Amino acid sequence: MWFPKRGWRLQLLQFIAVLGSLWMFILLSQLKTGRSAAYILKYQWLVYTDEDESPEKVCNCSAILQGEKDEIQQAKLLTITKDFQKSTQIPDEYYINATKDCSEFKMRRKYITFPLSKEEEDFPLAYSMVVHHKVHSFERLLRAIYAPQNIYCVHVDKKAPASVFIAINAITSCFPNVFMVSKTVDVVYAGWTRVQADLNCMADLYNTSTTWKYFINLCGQDFPLKTNLEIVQALRSLKGGNSLESEEMSQGKKKRVMNVYQVVDGKMQPIGKTKDPTPFNLPILSGNAYIVVNRGYIRSVLEDKRIQALIEWAKDTYSPDEFLWATIQRMPGVPGSTWPNSKFDMTDMNAIARMVKWQWHEGSEGSLQAVYPECKGHHVRSICVYGAGDLQWLTEQHHLFANKFDADRDLIAIYCLEKYLRYKALTELV
Ligand SMILES: *[C@@H]1O[C@H](CO)[C@@H](O)[C@H](O)[C@H]1NC(C)=O
Ligand SMILES: *[C@@H]1O[C@H](CO)[C@@H](O)[C@H](O)[C@H]1NC(C)=O
Ligand SMILES: *[C@@H]1O[C@H](CO)[C@@H](O)[C@H](O)[C@H]1NC(C)=O
Repeated sequence: MWFPKRGWRLQLLQFIAVLGSLWMFILLSQLKTGRSAAYILKYQWLVYTDEDESPEKVCNCSAILQGEKDEIQQAKLLTITKDFQKSTQIPDEYYINATKDCSEFKMRRKYITFPLSKEEEDFPLAYSMVVHHKVHSFERLLRAIYAPQNIYCVHVDKKAPASVFIAINAITSCFPNVFMVSKTVDVVYAGWTRVQADLNCMADLYNTSTTWKYFINLCGQDFPLKTNLEIVQALRSLKGGNSLESEEMSQGKKKRVMNVYQVVDGKMQPIGKTKDPTPFNLPILSGNAYIVVNRGYIRSVLEDKRIQALIEWAKDTYSPDEFLWATIQRMPGVPGSTWPNSKFDMTDMNAIARMVKWQWHEGSEGSLQAVYPECKGHHVRSICVYGAGDLQWLTEQHHLFANKFDADRDLIAIYCLEKYLRYKALTELV
């Protein structure tokens, strides 16, 4: 008998207890590893599937995203078919009715209503969305970037049709973290008010929440190329820096900041006066309207006296959106900025803010002039409006967003991109 007489029952009990906890441990760890698989299953209903009502479901998005020529050609043919165009249009009134029951709307449109990961929950983003038409495009964009921990300010152009305003207002009313800007302006192409629209949203976003880490501005024809988690990870890797185009201004553009411009008949026109030098002799840099900046940059824009002076100075220039953010990005003391020295210049291709394809930069790989492959959609004012054939290349870029997409002209590009992103967002949880 190897059990000592005294207390063998106790030892047996201990032995059973050890066995029991071992069994519990195995069970728990099985539950833990099994959790990832269950996780996907659990949120399976958030995947955009082909049973969804859309007429564009005849397209094979995986083939399109792999760049298969036949499938892309077929998608292109479909998008120019009148019947298809008609069947995919959604009138503004649809959204007014559909959002009467918000929870039904969010469920049917498969909005993500809980943070998908702790990492995303701990890194909320602030978005400014400046739109003037195409409610359908706006809603698909919002759905693609929506997460409950983020915050969204929407500026609808003052001159937009009432139906656009009402429909977008109805959509935003369904979400506690999506709101209409408190002050609306009439946005004039290349005019100051384009900047003012973003400034008004910046102030509201800064005022409404103290927790967001980065600010991103969008227009209605942008679409993400990354999931929210990928965006968060890209921003964290900036380590507090900002990412936007900011480089030397070309000679051709200099007249924009050397002459006084005013709105005449709804257009920006020079009035024959030259401008004073910039306040504090700040060097003017060239960029674009789209930026990815940290909270401190926004605080500077709202509070820094030098920037207030620069803003006043910029109000009668041509297209101030294309130099103001770029100039602020090179001002000493602005959080996340870089020095004005040209060694810190950043092009739109190196910044992650926005992928825009300009017609004159398109060409074949290896050509010294070309920056990107030819546009597979069509051009509007020399900018590529992406087609399904652009997707494979787009998804390989490091940019967080691309411009332009148009739900009326090429819905397949949006349809396949949103499907790809949603699937990725749900599978990257594993
Ligand atoms: C879609 O395309 C992929 C890639 O070519 C192919 O593997 C798949 O079978 C296609 N699906 C359908 C439903 O045709
Ligand atoms: C309005 O929306 C409800 C569901 O929210 C739907 O059942 C109804 O058919 C819609 N009416 C119109 C006119 O679209
Ligand atoms: C928010 O904005 C309002 C109006 O501009 C201002 O009066 C208020 O002080 C701001 N609140 C904060 C917390 O900044």
